[in-house]
Amino acid sequence: MTYNTRVEKIDHKLIKKKQMEMLKNHPAVQQAADLLSQGETVAFPTETVYGLGADATNKKAVNRIYKAKGRPADNPLIVHIAHIEQLYQIIAGDLSEIGDSLIKNFWPGPLTLIFPKKEFIPAETTAGLDTVAVRMPSHALALALIEVANLPLAAPSANISGAPSPTRAIHVLDDFKGSIPLILDGGPCPVGVESTVVDIRGDKVEILRPGGISREELQRVTGNIFEEKIEKSEIDSEIDSKEKKIKNEYPISPGMKYRHYSPQTPLYIIDDDNHNKIVGKIKGLLQSYTGMKMGFILSQETIQKINELKMNYLKGQTVKKMGARKNPEEIASRLFNLLRELDKMNLDRIYIEAISTRGIGEAVMNRIYKAGITE
Ligand code: TXA
Ligand code: MG
Repeated sequence: MTYNTRVEKIDHKLIKKKQMEMLKNHPAVQQAADLLSQGETVAFPTETVYGLGADATNKKAVNRIYKAKGRPADNPLIVHIAHIEQLYQIIAGDLSEIGDSLIKNFWPGPLTLIFPKKEFIPAETTAGLDTVAVRMPSHALALALIEVANLPLAAPSANISGAPSPTRAIHVLDDFKGSIPLILDGGPCPVGVESTVVDIRGDKVEILRPGGISREELQRVTGNIFEEKIEKSEIDSEIDSKEKKIKNEYPISPGMKYRHYSPQTPLYIIDDDNHNKIVGKIKGLLQSYTGMKMGFILSQETIQKINELKMNYLKGQTVKKMGARKNPEEIASRLFNLLRELDKMNLDRIYIEAISTRGIGEAVMNRIYKAGITE
């Protein structure tokens, strides 16, 4: 089936000022909700990335998501809710104390929690697992849509499986033109990387995917029942542990084993732990690969160093500013847009600077390592 994909722009002021009644009465939101109750898919913004939503209780609707994305059938979806009552409709058993305090601290927001699921949530939504991932987004348009549709919405990131996640409506259109009926355009997503997925079922809190809520923030709430895998692996050599930590530390979330977030253009990572050799490394690359069209995604600090040295060896190459190393939130919010932007420029290679894994930097580096080529 082909659709005439419509993009409906929603006034940013309504979103910023959280004008919930006006958003709920917006004709585009009403149309989106109608489509969702008919079992169709609709793309909508969240604070992290755009999601491709469908009724989480309707297996035909959920199958449309898998089909449109080309998503492997064993990768479960996150169910999005707008109020806490919806959680109790979905999950089996009581909410644990730790679940309760994480929800009180981080919902609505970029935190996804894993719970045992009730029977009526179809196997398609959870890829056959007896658990369900749930989150309450903080984006006013997402909340308005869930409320008007009056449905829990299964919504993976609205990208073709394997591609960089979408942080703007145009990214969704690039991937799904003709294959979904409607995109709600709420402007750029403020966080820019997906939610943190956390398993709270055992006696430890475990991060399955790092994301918008950092390990440090979680730990402040959970205290010593936090699973600290990273510290343990740091016993190994620095680089080795860093790679292991970012690439293999989160094996239980089924989706983490696939190729992910990748542009078509080969993406290489410039690792420089102390940020003192980066300029030399870039120079070396340009000397080794003369004649290549390269794109560089670099921090403000690195660009400044290059400018101070007044060397013009980057002339003719594409350089994009990823944001400041001291402001990893800024880098997170720009990451996927930059990968998509450079991917359209017919470059031979894209190089991206590695940043510290502190705070949201852990999620940024997780996405970069997964998207990139490690030689
Ligand atoms: O920020 C986000 O989480 C975005 C927006 C749209 O909300 N959504 C998102 O969905 O990133 P997706 O499908 O791209 O990633 C969902 C992740 C996958 O890694 C998946 O394997 C994991 O959550 N997941 C879902 N259900 C799970 C479950 N029951 N147990 C373990 N992991 C689960
Ligand atoms: Mg995704």
